[in-house]
Amino acid sequence: MALAQKNPIFGCISWGKRYLLPLREHTDCVMQIVVEHSEALRGEVQVPGAKNSVLKLMAVTLLAEGEYRLTNVPDIADVDTMCDLLRALGVQSKKVGTHELVLTNSGNITPVAPFEFVDRIRASINVLGPLVGRYGSADIAMPGGDDFGSRPIDLHVAGLEAMGARFELNKDGIRATAKRLQGASIELKFPSVGATENILTAAVLANGVTVIDNAAREPEIVDLCNMLVAMGAQIEGIGTSRLVIHGSKKGSLRGVRHAVINDRVQAATYIAAVAIAGGDVQVRGARPEHMEMVINKYTQMGVSIYPQRDGLRVTAPERLTAIDFATLPYPGIATDYKPLLVAMNSISSGVGIVTENLFPGRFRYIEELCKLGADIRIDGHHAVIKGVDHLIGTAVTAPDIRAGAALVVAGLAAHGETVISEIHHIDRGYDDLVGRLSGLGADVTRV
Ligand code: EPZ
Repeated sequence: MALAQKNPIFGCISWGKRYLLPLREHTDCVMQIVVEHSEALRGEVQVPGAKNSVLKLMAVTLLAEGEYRLTNVPDIADVDTMCDLLRALGVQSKKVGTHELVLTNSGNITPVAPFEFVDRIRASINVLGPLVGRYGSADIAMPGGDDFGSRPIDLHVAGLEAMGARFELNKDGIRATAKRLQGASIELKFPSVGATENILTAAVLANGVTVIDNAAREPEIVDLCNMLVAMGAQIEGIGTSRLVIHGSKKGSLRGVRHAVINDRVQAATYIAAVAIAGGDVQVRGARPEHMEMVINKYTQMGVSIYPQRDGLRVTAPERLTAIDFATLPYPGIATDYKPLLVAMNSISSGVGIVTENLFPGRFRYIEELCKLGADIRIDGHHAVIKGVDHLIGTAVTAPDIRAGAALVVAGLAAHGETVISEIHHIDRGYDDLVGRLSGLGADVTRV
């Protein structure tokens, strides 16, 4: 009974590593992840499809009637939420096995996105462009998702207004209307991923040509453009900061089959796990061409990364070396990698200075890392991380998707047991993180 007694959090019966919860308490029991200090990781892990691509690919099924088959779909909670949202709008979805999704748009679309779904994920805002572009109106609550402080949508609105949409703000959110969107030249004051995606997906059915300058260039945007082109859209400059979209007639686009690109952030998470716990691992399906900057940073920290035919081989150094870095839009260091790099810096030799340029409020996990014994000071949108010899396991809380995963990874190097709560955040964006890490020999369990 030692463990249960040692861990009042659980207040339940322990059976080896599996916690058997008395049924009565099941409803108000929260799922947690327990990480023990792990030996070196070995073997191979498959990188799943990308959350930040699949959700946008699902939203463009609103653009045209027909059947869409998405493969390499990650088994994550956000996909289920997007399915619920699309169902409420009129697009039916069916899972085929775990990683394939069939979506059917039979033309009965009601362009009203209910708060209950929109509030759960940021990507819900991505139905705005297709709805206004295809149906001339959209009623949407303000999007939710990870709390990084203010996450405005002014660039989305300004871009669609430039194409002739009219916006009203009401108690339930925003209403956008447009007889038919007109092509326009739009220069984004910041290469916003979401704004680029909404303007792009609205422009494919606009009258005339739309040019987006200073467009975001993330691999997920390229994946979206490739699916739109397969549907019949005409887009030039894919992968560059200038996208030129030649509007097509309504009814000229069609359903397609599309394989979602692999998730570069999940790939980076498994590399960080090896870097922190030690070992030698094949990260299958990692796309080095999508991860150049983060691979450079990992290499500067002493991690050895070898491109392979279908991924990367990763081996860890004796001790990591701290680095400085700043988050930037693609191809810079993505802000989504930052919690992983901060966790690595926290047990590295030396001091690293990190600057957050996209979401100044995205430091909420620092407090949790400090509970594990990390030495980190925040100064505005900078963090100074002084590497410590080791972390010490304790109870921590996941504040969002990426930070949650970084706490799991940090726990692999912590002495003792790290218990992570609020793991629904992790489930939103990670496809079986616990199973994939335990497959590499990590001592990680869901309880
Ligand atoms: C996407 O968010 C991703 N989310 C985020 O990943 C990612 O961190 C972010 O891009 C940056 O790479 C999804 O794809 C669902 P932005 P998004 O619009 O589209 C400002 C994860 O963990 N801005 O590029 O919301 C904004 O405040 C998530 O998977 C405006 O000012 O990001 C921020 O400072 C977290 N006005 C910056 O631009 C706008 O209208 C970047 O935001 C829009 C954005």
